[in-house]
Amino acid sequence: MCGIVGYIGREDAAPILLKGLKKLEYRGYDSAGIAILGAGGLTVRKSRGGIKNLEEKIEAELANGTLAASIGIGHTRWATHGEPSDINAHPHTDLSGNIAVVHNGIIENYARLKAWLQKHGVVFRSETDTEAVAHLIDLHYNGDLLQAVMESLIRLEGSYALAVVSRDDPDRIIAVRKESPLVIGKGDGENFIASDVPALLEYTRDVYYLLDREIAVLYRDKVEFYDGDGRRIEKNIAHVDWDAGAAEKDGYEHFMIKEINEQPKALTSALRARIQADAGQDAQGGVPVKAVNLEEIGFDSSWAQANRVVITACGTAWHAAVIGKYAFERYSRISADVDIASEYRYRNPICNPQDIFIIISQSGETADTLAAMRMAKESGSRVIAITNVVGSTLAREADLVMYTWAGPEIAVASTKAFTTQLMCLYLIALQFGVLRGVLSGDELAKSIKALEEVSGQAEKILKDKETIQRFAARHFTKSKVFFMGRLFDYAVSLESALKLKEISYTHSEAFAAGELKHGPIALVDESTLVVAICTQTVLFEKMDSNIKEVKARGASTLVITYDDVNYFDQSADEIFRIPRLPDGLSPMLSIIPCQLYAYYCAVQRGLDPDKPRNLAKSVTVE
Ligand code: M6R
Repeated sequence: MCGIVGYIGREDAAPILLKGLKKLEYRGYDSAGIAILGAGGLTVRKSRGGIKNLEEKIEAELANGTLAASIGIGHTRWATHGEPSDINAHPHTDLSGNIAVVHNGIIENYARLKAWLQKHGVVFRSETDTEAVAHLIDLHYNGDLLQAVMESLIRLEGSYALAVVSRDDPDRIIAVRKESPLVIGKGDGENFIASDVPALLEYTRDVYYLLDREIAVLYRDKVEFYDGDGRRIEKNIAHVDWDAGAAEKDGYEHFMIKEINEQPKALTSALRARIQADAGQDAQGGVPVKAVNLEEIGFDSSWAQANRVVITACGTAWHAAVIGKYAFERYSRISADVDIASEYRYRNPICNPQDIFIIISQSGETADTLAAMRMAKESGSRVIAITNVVGSTLAREADLVMYTWAGPEIAVASTKAFTTQLMCLYLIALQFGVLRGVLSGDELAKSIKALEEVSGQAEKILKDKETIQRFAARHFTKSKVFFMGRLFDYAVSLESALKLKEISYTHSEAFAAGELKHGPIALVDESTLVVAICTQTVLFEKMDSNIKEVKARGASTLVITYDDVNYFDQSADEIFRIPRLPDGLSPMLSIIPCQLYAYYCAVQRGLDPDKPRNLAKSVTVE
């Protein structure tokens, strides 16, 4: 949940570390710190608050050269053990100040370790689990930092990405990971570590992805790798082809609005190369027929033998999963279950090797999602991962990987990841339907055509964003906002309510519209805004009744429906129209005005949508 960086080379380390940390601030921003090894030995500087606070604190030292050094590590924190404070900020050191450690993850046996270390005379200064690691390494230190780290790792339980430096070993950084992400960047006469690729892009595209328990030892001119048993190993370099601008704001005020606007491009990337233009000719002959082609990800007919599809994820990705369930039922007529990963892992689910799991995670590093995937694999089921991050743990451990190709998503609130996850789910569901022989040629052709048009339609919605901006300006003070819909529209309501609450702190809820009369309507009064998502023609009449019911209780209403629909003209206070799509595919478009609404409400409320309180982008701990 935190971000870590490291640098060893010939340049001044501190500015490079600070820049890297800024790129990782989405992972946590309640405190930050750096440790550098220079002429003055090991120097640690840390501060409560974002990187800006740290920068201000060390501004003078940076200017007068006191912090000059060519090796260092850094950390931006999302607090788990101990409140955000200067003391609890990383790096943490041993008692003598010889060894400094930054850590992302949770040391689960930390209480036991702490008690043991205290018996050995260690006095703890912070409330963090990480401090125990620094003391432990010190206790094992016998002149060889690598050896000390290796011996300490044997005693650590839980998840960690660690970077360690020592005053007595000033020409290398030791880095290791288990269940928390860590990437090594290879430069020319310099090497880097980071929790995520965007922190490296300015310096290098050549990276090594560490596997669980692997150790990297970074020198200026080389990187050595060791497996969990301490044996030297060789690792292959991967090349990242994101352009550096992809991880920048590019003139936008926030990453979130940039990423909302990137959806047309992202949707095209998710679809590209997965449609085969000349898959045959139609029955009349002559007209080429298109098909879904998932050979690229290794999806063949054996996958369609499944008895059941289980889709598991957290947060926004879980909302995509709910839509996936409906899509599988509609297009492939296969039984589909959907589970919140954090729930799934603690129940006693019934699954068998004939089930197929689809595990969705933008980051590919969400702890609960990974645990659910591992359970699925243990039960003998095959797993398809839908993820945005190449080389992520999910991508590495799944049987098949379908990348969303959305480009880096930096904002905490997930937007383009969601719509591209949907695109991937629709493609798999359609292909399942074809392979199972339940999808007619007509419906396939209609659906493919629609998928190909989605990007342009998303663009059209975005051109009309001022309409939503004005709407937000009128309603951002509303204390309660409810989103309602049925089936696909209900799932979009869930995602819309999450977006609004996480960045604007507005109390928002989603209801399956048919449930309104079973309780939620008691909450509706003049202070309520109800957004009704109405994109399924057969349900228009039902939705219209629900809209009238909430209006009768004083709510203001906004309806999101197609641009050729007048059904709600009498009942809705306001209507936002989106281009028409076959009903089941509409979530890729109907979510966009809701994302925009959440964004503009946050801005109207004077909040930073990229840094919502208490949240971090990747939940790599439980
Ligand atoms: O990286 P993941 O897709 O696994 O992340 C899952 C959730 O943590 C994430 O979607 C979260 O709910 C977002 N903040 C929602 O905007």
